[in-house]
Amino acid sequence: MKKIKLNLGKRSYNIVIGHHIIKDIAKLVSPSVLNKPILVITNKKVARVAGGKLLKALKAIGAEVHGKEVPDSERAKSFATYSKITTELSRIGKKIKPTIIALGGGVVGDVAGFAASTYRRGIPYIQIPTTLLAQVDSSIGGKVAIDLKEAKNLVGSFYQPRAVICDLSFLKTLPRKEIINGLAEIIKYGIIRDKALFNYIEKNLQKILNLSGKYLEYVVWKCASIKARVVEKDEFDSTGIRVILNFGHTFAHAIENAFKYSKKHTHGESVAVGMVLASDMAFDLGILSSEDFERIRNLVKRAGLPTAIQKADIGKLMKAIEYDKKFLSGTNRFVLPRRVGRVETVEDIPEILIETVFKRGGA
Ligand code: NAD
Ligand code: GLY
Repeated sequence: MKKIKLNLGKRSYNIVIGHHIIKDIAKLVSPSVLNKPILVITNKKVARVAGGKLLKALKAIGAEVHGKEVPDSERAKSFATYSKITTELSRIGKKIKPTIIALGGGVVGDVAGFAASTYRRGIPYIQIPTTLLAQVDSSIGGKVAIDLKEAKNLVGSFYQPRAVICDLSFLKTLPRKEIINGLAEIIKYGIIRDKALFNYIEKNLQKILNLSGKYLEYVVWKCASIKARVVEKDEFDSTGIRVILNFGHTFAHAIENAFKYSKKHTHGESVAVGMVLASDMAFDLGILSSEDFERIRNLVKRAGLPTAIQKADIGKLMKAIEYDKKFLSGTNRFVLPRRVGRVETVEDIPEILIETVFKRGGA
């Protein structure tokens, strides 16, 4: 088992990573958080594969447990789901502020965290991520949100969990496509901060894809550590440090939006294409060498991820990219790789180059 402390003063918490650790939840989370009425938020699929183990561990300590299932997939990040969760919270915690446990992927974590951040102006919550993407990224750092039809994550806040428990054994039931999705974020960490991690993924790709014990534990720990260190330096995404975690995401969000969040381009697949497009842009601007551009593209491809967009309307993509938060101040802003292991923020990219990169990327 590995433990990472995310240091944020009073809002500090531990990220714990290991196999079959859910049974030890009482040892991993402060009793003051677990001795409240608990609302476990999950979906049907995750309840079936992981709900029983969590329930057993909570019952063993005599916890008062309630459950709320939300729809599967991105459509759960809606006002309708948020309203159902907060109504349920008002039923179970009339006198005491309840605790939320988010059991699931990034979707469950984001909507459950957002409910926790606003219900009674904030109640404790614990992230128990069950997808690879959620274990290395979304459960850490306190970004919580729901979507509007205009764009994803438009309504949200920064609200840190009290603990993140990454039980690697939960990943065994994940479809291969979801493992590959998570791999996109893992590759991202190598590109933005850690050349040694990138080399490690290149060397051990199949073992990671097969969720092989120590390889899996190493990459989840490494990525969670990188994210923790970045979040500590820029919790509220206000100093230009945390933005590096969005490498590939400016293009990715536009792609997801243009495809109306359909299964044609999942989040991980869009991030993969987005990383390749950002690398192409960096190469075009003379920031990135052709060798490193090829290394990035090759690893994305070897991981089974797409390196180009499916045929899409360029007008829709350009419109969607303008909705990106990073464009709101008037000047656009892209995180671009300088080399494997290092990225930088570049502003005021000419519209024509954005369009060209989209077109070279398949649009
Ligand atoms: P997801 O939550 O939709 O999960 C993917 C699929 O896997 C779902 O069908 C889910 O039911 C299923 N699943 C989950 N755990 C399983 C298990 N153990 N076995 C079998 N099936 C399982 O998708 P995701 O990729 O985890 O998360 C994507 C979401 O995360 C997006 O909404 C994205 O915006 C958000 N996100 C948030 C942050 C953040 O910092 N808050 C960062 C990255 C992504
Ligand atoms: N996933 C980007 C962030 O947490 O800032």
